[in-house]
Amino acid sequence: MNKLISIDDLTIDDINDIFELAEYFKENKDVKTLDINPVIGIMFFEPSTRTNYSFQTAIHKLGFKFIEYNHDNSSSKKGETLQDTISTFECYCDLIIIRHPDKNIFNEIVFSKPVINAGNGPEEHPTQALLDLFTIMDRKNLSDNLKISFVGDIIYSRTIHSLIKLLEKFNNNYTDIDYTYNFVGYTELLDKHLEKSVNNKIYPNIQSHDLKNLLEFQPDIIYTTRIQRERRNFNQDQNIIIDNEFLEKMPEDTILMHPLPRNNEIHTSCDKNNRSVYYDQMKNGVYVRMAIIYKLLNIYKVN
Ligand code: NCD
Repeated sequence: MNKLISIDDLTIDDINDIFELAEYFKENKDVKTLDINPVIGIMFFEPSTRTNYSFQTAIHKLGFKFIEYNHDNSSSKKGETLQDTISTFECYCDLIIIRHPDKNIFNEIVFSKPVINAGNGPEEHPTQALLDLFTIMDRKNLSDNLKISFVGDIIYSRTIHSLIKLLEKFNNNYTDIDYTYNFVGYTELLDKHLEKSVNNKIYPNIQSHDLKNLLEFQPDIIYTTRIQRERRNFNQDQNIIIDNEFLEKMPEDTILMHPLPRNNEIHTSCDKNNRSVYYDQMKNGVYVRMAIIYKLLNIYKVN
């Protein structure tokens, strides 16, 4: 594993390695001083709070250094191509973490250093999916027949796309189980193509904008996203809203997830509900990202 652009870059062994390392870091065990001194390049061409700052925290905790690209103050303003700007950054770094609005960025740019995709347009967000699954594993057993509801902007949410790929990787690994999916969103937010990626295991067959579906489906996991307005024209106000009254109607061990930021799709009344794990997702992001950086730099194995 020398890059993490898509969930497709990972084997089950890679994922287990990352989770084992993340668990080690979460237990606050000492990070050994290393005789190498990597510099990580952070290049974000789109806004970010959680992903950017959790990567920065992860790098600090590992005792490494980073440099951060500032698009408004770079030679791109003098007409430099994106390829030249990235190749320049690579001269100063041992690993690049990049977020870009263009889903084709990794086909169009040649990278010479290990690279982590921190979100490429609506396509994928593999580090988020890994921290999502790491959080799921705190409460759920992946070898059970899990039922997962995705609520919100199904077509343009890269976090959903990567998480489905990751879940299906595990589902295919355990031959005797089947995950079932349910999608809730406005018609124009639902994606027919996803039926294929989840092997048509959609319940019910008709996807819906009605949260009542969840009452019948009784999901183990509800994964909600905001409408990705920067990627689409969508004038309707989001009124598929989960509030605490609704959440209380779900089984006690259902978990409510969100990659955040939220708009109004999860009411703040849910925040203290034991089913809500979005703060855990944020915290776990640091440990999972520490593990991904370690694994990609191929520095040493925890024993
Ligand atoms: C997500 C993203 O950027 O795709 N946020 C994140 O990384 N935690 C979700 C979003 O922006 O809606």
